Amino acid sequence: MTDHDTRVGPGHPPLRPQDVLGVPALPPPAVTRASNRARGLLARLRRGTAPPPVRIMESALAGLEPAVLATLCRLDLPDRLTGPLDVPALAAELDVDADRLTRLLRFAHVRGWVRLDRRHRVHPTRVTTFLRRDHPGGWRAWVTFAAGQEVTAALGALERALPPDGDAFDAANGLAFFPWMHAHPDRHTGFDAAMAAGARMHGLLLARALDWSTSRRVCDVGGGDGTLLSVLVAHHPHLHGVVLELPEVAARMPVRHQVTAEAGDAFRGVPPGCDTYLLVNVLHDWGDAAATDLLRRAAEAARACEADGTPARVIVVDHQAHPRPKDDMAQLADTLMLALTPGGRERTTGHVVALGEAAGLALQRHHRLASGDVAIVLRPERSGSVTPTVRGPVSRRRRGRSASE
Ligand SMILES: C[S@@+](CC[C@H](N)C(=O)[O-])C[C@H]1O[C@@H](n2cnc3c(N)ncnc32)[C@H](O)[C@@H]1O
Repeated sequence: MTDHDTRVGPGHPPLRPQDVLGVPALPPPAVTRASNRARGLLARLRRGTAPPPVRIMESALAGLEPAVLATLCRLDLPDRLTGPLDVPALAAELDVDADRLTRLLRFAHVRGWVRLDRRHRVHPTRVTTFLRRDHPGGWRAWVTFAAGQEVTAALGALERALPPDGDAFDAANGLAFFPWMHAHPDRHTGFDAAMAAGARMHGLLLARALDWSTSRRVCDVGGGDGTLLSVLVAHHPHLHGVVLELPEVAARMPVRHQVTAEAGDAFRGVPPGCDTYLLVNVLHDWGDAAATDLLRRAAEAARACEADGTPARVIVVDHQAHPRPKDDMAQLADTLMLALTPGGRERTTGHVVALGEAAGLALQRHHRLASGDVAIVLRPERSGSVTPTVRGPVSRRRRGRSASE
């Protein structure tokens, strides 16, 4: 393990909804759903009122957005924008052409990332605040990760993902995603940092949405740099956390209060002796067969815990796919998984439950989270019987009880 985390843990103020989501309090999941629906409706309206050539051009050039955002971050604009800045003076400081910089800023202004006024001044926004290096949410890491050449190359080879065993990332970069990351430690730590932004949010959401009173020891399978467990433990100090990670990730995990790192391969087994096994944004990296194997390893450990008399659970959080496509984060994430992973995907709750059943797990309940995601809580089947085949998505009747419904 290496340095202390600079964002969470003892000595740091506890993370607040403001820090990770930009809202003063976590909204009830129904409010998130209504707000997402309204945003989807407005987006459809905007698209629906544009003639096809405009829609084609807007889509064909949408790649400018990450390019401009990453450029502004590389110029450290979010960190410089602690207040309004004179654009010509900023250009002089950056040693760039003022007119060219203005053009980039105009693009950013139209997207609501910055605000330009008539006096050639650029103003910070909530987006630039969230993109500062020292922002507790850490979302800037996503801009850096998504702008990486290995990512853009995989997106450029998307058709190579379409054969049944296709892997666009491998086709573009010569190695599958995690082996490539292993060979490129700088990019790997950048990826871990991007994951940590989501983990901070999920740590907070899970800490608030689920009952942790009877839990003692929580294993985060593929838990990255331990951020999620650190946030969870900060909210529920009676918990101890264990992160199971690839050796190189475990080795560089920061020192964390009441959280330890264990190097290993989740496909071979998960650490025994925990009453809760988390799989957050992990199943979606894998196809159904591999995802079922991961669930089976977690089920074995959970069953052993129950055999010792302690109730155990396996909790899955991915983006929740919908039977009908929606313009939402799940759709974005699903296409990203298509480009970056060998068979990974977002799944409906029913699909995850079917994989769980094949691995010897039964649905206990699902909790809608304030982010719009769903935490699916599975329990080891009492008999230990394992359904041999993976079925497709199950009906609503079999999805079990939702904590928010
Ligand atoms: C998409 S990331 C999710 C990280 C974290 N759970 C989160 O939500 O931020 C998947 C994680 O699984 C880890 N991983 C990949 N293969 C693994 C394996 N065979 N055993 C353990 N961890 C693995 C990766 O290193 C990575 O941190």
